[in-house]
Amino acid sequence: MSGQHPPHHSQKSDGHAPDPDDQAEMLDLDLDAEVLAEHTAALMSWLPVDVPPRRVVDLGCGTGTGTFAVLDRFPEVQITAVDASVEHLQRVRDRACARGQDDRVRTVQADLDDPHWPDLGVADLVWASASMHHLDHPDHALRAVHELLAPRGLFVVVEPDGVPRFLPENAPEGRPGLEGRCHEVADRLHADRVPHRDADWGPKLSASGFTLEGKRTITIDVAGGRNPTVGAYALATLRRFRDVVADALPVEDVEALDALLDVHGPASILHRDDLVVRTERRVWAARRSH
Ligand SMILES: C[S@@+](CC[C@H](N)C(=O)[O-])C[C@H]1O[C@@H](n2cnc3c(N)ncnc32)[C@H](O)[C@@H]1O
Repeated sequence: MSGQHPPHHSQKSDGHAPDPDDQAEMLDLDLDAEVLAEHTAALMSWLPVDVPPRRVVDLGCGTGTGTFAVLDRFPEVQITAVDASVEHLQRVRDRACARGQDDRVRTVQADLDDPHWPDLGVADLVWASASMHHLDHPDHALRAVHELLAPRGLFVVVEPDGVPRFLPENAPEGRPGLEGRCHEVADRLHADRVPHRDADWGPKLSASGFTLEGKRTITIDVAGGRNPTVGAYALATLRRFRDVVADALPVEDVEALDALLDVHGPASILHRDDLVVRTERRVWAARRSH
């Protein structure tokens, strides 16, 4: 499962040239998966499944965080991982091979905003983590998921509450609250570009014929200490923020941000032992009733 990312130019790849945004997003997704693995596993255990699913679809699978968490929880499943990005799907196939599970994972490249989805088979469980808010036409996607679910099949929507935060309020020295100001700028940009990111999916699911079975909010608070993965995750996230928010920040904030991002400098975020990954996840589990 993944956090939401600082906005960038494109979520979709034309499949011809490696997209640097895609590469950066893959790093974020992998770090997020590693840091939050326990939370994802706990969420999988909570899922209100009647009988273990055998056919699963992971919509907007990214680098496979959900795909492999589902496989860990339900080792017998066949899973179809769907994404618009060829790079992400290649990573999923590579990981499936490395885990000896390539016979359990099929990848499908598709734009989920396309009114005509490729054949994804019938699913007992559809998992969509941090992907629904990216869609321009989520109502169409909700109807399409309803169609592909077997009767009593479960649709799980997981949405992060924005980009995780890492720094204490009083950091960094001289520019306290810097991270919060970065978020404010990024949130303004996101509001225009990603209008569904704060959506309440419950009413949308009901309107599309689902019965809501469960809803929860998971608060995540992972102390970083000197955990290098947390440092790398904070660094990757702030680097992507830098590209997006620098023009809208006071010059002193940009300088402080650059000092945090200078991995060889004394103020590098990698040297901090007070990082905490703070975020929330909202989860809706809905059933196709007939
Ligand atoms: C934030 S990532 C989440 C990835 C993964 N589900 C996770 O939890 O780590 C969002 C994913 O949705 C994909 N995506 C965004 N818009 C899409 C679309 N219209 N069709 C298919 N995939 C899309 C992106 O390529 C990206 O892999």
